[in-house]
Amino acid sequence: MSNQVKSKQRVVDHGEVFTSEREVNAMLDLVKQETERIDSRFLEPACGDGNFLAEILKRKLQIVKQTYKKSFSEYEKYSIVALSSIYGVELLFDNTLTCQKRLFDIWNNEYSSVCKNTANDKCRKIAQHILSLNILCGNALSMKRVDENGKDLEEPIIFAEWSFVGDKVKRRDFRLDVLLKENEDESMYNTQLSIFGDTADSLDYWEIDPVTNNPIPKAVKEYPMIDYRSIVEYE
Ligand SMILES: C[S@@+](CC[C@H](N)C(=O)[O-])C[C@H]1O[C@@H](n2cnc3c(N)ncnc32)[C@H](O)[C@@H]1O
Repeated sequence: MSNQVKSKQRVVDHGEVFTSEREVNAMLDLVKQETERIDSRFLEPACGDGNFLAEILKRKLQIVKQTYKKSFSEYEKYSIVALSSIYGVELLFDNTLTCQKRLFDIWNNEYSSVCKNTANDKCRKIAQHILSLNILCGNALSMKRVDENGKDLEEPIIFAEWSFVGDKVKRRDFRLDVLLKENEDESMYNTQLSIFGDTADSLDYWEIDPVTNNPIPKAVKEYPMIDYRSIVEYE
């Protein structure tokens, strides 16, 4: 586990105090069932170097191993499903990279140990690709991407949603501010959507759910459904 404080200055500037392993586990135990469901989605908006996300990944991979260790191909796929459901935003560039690497190392150590000589670099690249899209350097308050100095860019934070059906996966990209707005309002039904500006209220980012008739977030980009082993080619 990383040290809880890297420097006094970072505590003052960014409130950077990492959570201890004991506290992380106690808090995750409050939602134990979700942490042990392979495809349950977790987003941590100030993830630091990944103390919570690392533990969630370990718990999910434990279930993947228990369930699929007899089939290398199933283990491989479900370990990717587990990884693809974990998301983080972090303001500081060094923490973001450390978090991505830490999650990759946890995934890769398990993958290499379970799949032995069937483990391959093509799948490792898939894992790295997902982490580069799921763990983003950004400002969770403004919901914008940030540069290497932590300054807001004009770009909104956009996350890829990975939906698996058998060996196939569909990627749809959503703006984080729009996803959070949906959760923030009990019903978006009465919210005025705007035809002006590029904000989370913009009509461009919502569509009507044909079943409930309520506005739901609209993907800013949709990709064709493809074999999960080909997702790196999406780019
Ligand atoms: C108290 S630490 C917690 C880190 C981690 N969640 C943990 O529990 O170990 C807060 C983290 O949030 C980051 N942070 C501060 N302001 C932020 C912002 N506006 N958006 C995203 N991350 C932010 C800091 O760099 C720091 O890594």
